[in-house]
Amino acid sequence: MRKGILTIAAVGLLATGGLTACGDDDSGSDAGGSAKTPKIGVILPDSKSSARWETADRRFLEEAFKAAGVKYDIQNAQNDKTAFQTIADQMITSGVTALMIVNLDSGTGKAVLDKAKSQGVATIDYDRLTLGGSAQYYVSFDNEVVGKLQGEGLSKCLTEKGAKNPVVAYLNGSPTDNNATLFKNGYDSVLKPKFDSKEYVKGPEDAVPAWDNAQAATIFEQQLTKANGKIDGVLSANDGLGNAAISILKKNKLNGKVPVTGQDASTEGLQNILAGDQCMTVYKAVREEAKAASDLAIALAKGEKKDTGQTVKDPEGNRDVPSVLLTPKAIYKDNIKDVIADGYVTKEEVCTAAYAKACADAGIS
Ligand code: BGC
Repeated sequence: MRKGILTIAAVGLLATGGLTACGDDDSGSDAGGSAKTPKIGVILPDSKSSARWETADRRFLEEAFKAAGVKYDIQNAQNDKTAFQTIADQMITSGVTALMIVNLDSGTGKAVLDKAKSQGVATIDYDRLTLGGSAQYYVSFDNEVVGKLQGEGLSKCLTEKGAKNPVVAYLNGSPTDNNATLFKNGYDSVLKPKFDSKEYVKGPEDAVPAWDNAQAATIFEQQLTKANGKIDGVLSANDGLGNAAISILKKNKLNGKVPVTGQDASTEGLQNILAGDQCMTVYKAVREEAKAASDLAIALAKGEKKDTGQTVKDPEGNRDVPSVLLTPKAIYKDNIKDVIADGYVTKEEVCTAAYAKACADAGIS
């Protein structure tokens, strides 16, 4: 009975829709309905805290938007919060139907999201959750698992080096990036019990403002001085910070002896692993992240609601945000080839002359 009524109603709707479409040449206009022709604006955070934003995210977002045949505008705020807001305003004025942001901090991210919302623009937190924000979706990786893989990786490398009661230093990510908090929760879950049981010794710990790689080198140099040169392992939150630590370890002829962690499977990070200077990295398949975010942005533009089947608690806004959380993967020397096989980086980029032998040894053909 009910089904019958619904079917008739659906036919009625289709008929009306058909008639409207016939009389409406102005394709793309939205005659008051919720379906709009998608145009997606993306604001990336910077191009220095990690190579990924320009080399992976931009590329894979473009790939997803092109495959879906939608209009898009991808810009990079270059770590400038004022520029971030200006770009958002321009995108809203230019008529984007969805705005995807990687915030520089939650305060400015929230201002942008709230403004977009007030203008009827759909919003997505891409990679970083804006605390207290209003994004309709959050698309990222399971960032506590990222941190857990780093903690486990460091522990594995310390064991392989036969380290006894190693002193472990922390180079955390930006204090204004919620992901940095989640990464730390993850690696603390592995390492804190070892500090508590005195198996490991907690060394110096610092957060690196805005994930600034140059500042990270200065900070790590100070950590090493403070610890009288006795640091046996470095939990670094990403490849850029890890490379900064490695540069100081090299100056002190300690590279290769002190394991360092990373994240992002950057070309530089993978080469540091091949050289034996970095213990591991965490690979996040950005192609999947970009595709998931693109699918949601397009659905929102069409007025569709997608069930992601999962939510993440925003502790500041006390809100359950519908989320897509993808699975990260730990990368060591022996599975660098998986990152290449996935098309994230090419063999040509990683296996330059200086790394040719190490690449062959690691089975990269
Ligand atoms: C991202 C990392 C990146 C870091 C610095 C984090 O929010 O999840 O992949 O390395 O920002 O840009």
